[in-house]
Amino acid sequence: MMATGPTGAEGEKVVPLGPGDLEAVVALERAMFPAPWTREQYAYGLAHGVLALCGITSGGRLLAYCSWYRVVDEAEIVNIAVSPGNRRCGLGRRLLRSVLQSAVKKGINQVFLEVRESNLAAVNLYASLGFRQTGRRRKYYPDTGEDALTMALALDPRAFATDIE
Ligand SMILES: CC(C)(COP(=O)(O)OP(=O)(O)OC[C@H]1O[C@@H](n2cnc3c(N)ncnc32)[C@H](O)[C@@H]1OP(=O)(O)O)[C@@H](O)C(=O)NCCC(=O)NCCS
Repeated sequence: MMATGPTGAEGEKVVPLGPGDLEAVVALERAMFPAPWTREQYAYGLAHGVLALCGITSGGRLLAYCSWYRVVDEAEIVNIAVSPGNRRCGLGRRLLRSVLQSAVKKGINQVFLEVRESNLAAVNLYASLGFRQTGRRRKYYPDTGEDALTMALALDPRAFATDIE
């Protein structure tokens, strides 16, 4: 079983995650999101091939994860999170970039997501990889009544051709 939490260790790597990693994924998710996905939701998505899940691990610890859907030639980022002690070290961008590289290889042209308007870290992360705001869903989040921003990226294969791993 994979643990979660901060690490100073070298050797972080981007890896696909599967059913055996869900305990660690759900632990991070619960610690970070007001309406976390359950283990059963993740397991269902993986079992039916509708959800892709990858993460960054180091020394057997899960530092970050990202989940996304693919629908024909489009994808939607469901969630991305970096454990609190490992933020602002480039892991979020590295992981999302890796997802976008994987999407290019699968022939995906457009990537969509939604994000809380106040989540500056996430909005900036997405913008730094080329996502642009396409709209706004008013009072979208039931816990705070906050608006969601919708963002999209037209994937340019040349921009994500280099394998950074
Ligand atoms: C959003 C999140 C994934 C970013 O991960 P991270 O590993 O800390 O981000 P990185 O170090 O890769 O930073 C990449 C860019 O994101 C932006 N960013 C990250 N943290 C930021 C912060 N606290 N404030 C402002 N911008 C920030 C910056 O543009 C940064 O580029 P720079 O360092 O060159 O300025 C992380 O803050 C997180 O897990 N937040 C909680 C979960 C969450 O809100 N997920 C998004 C759901 S939509």
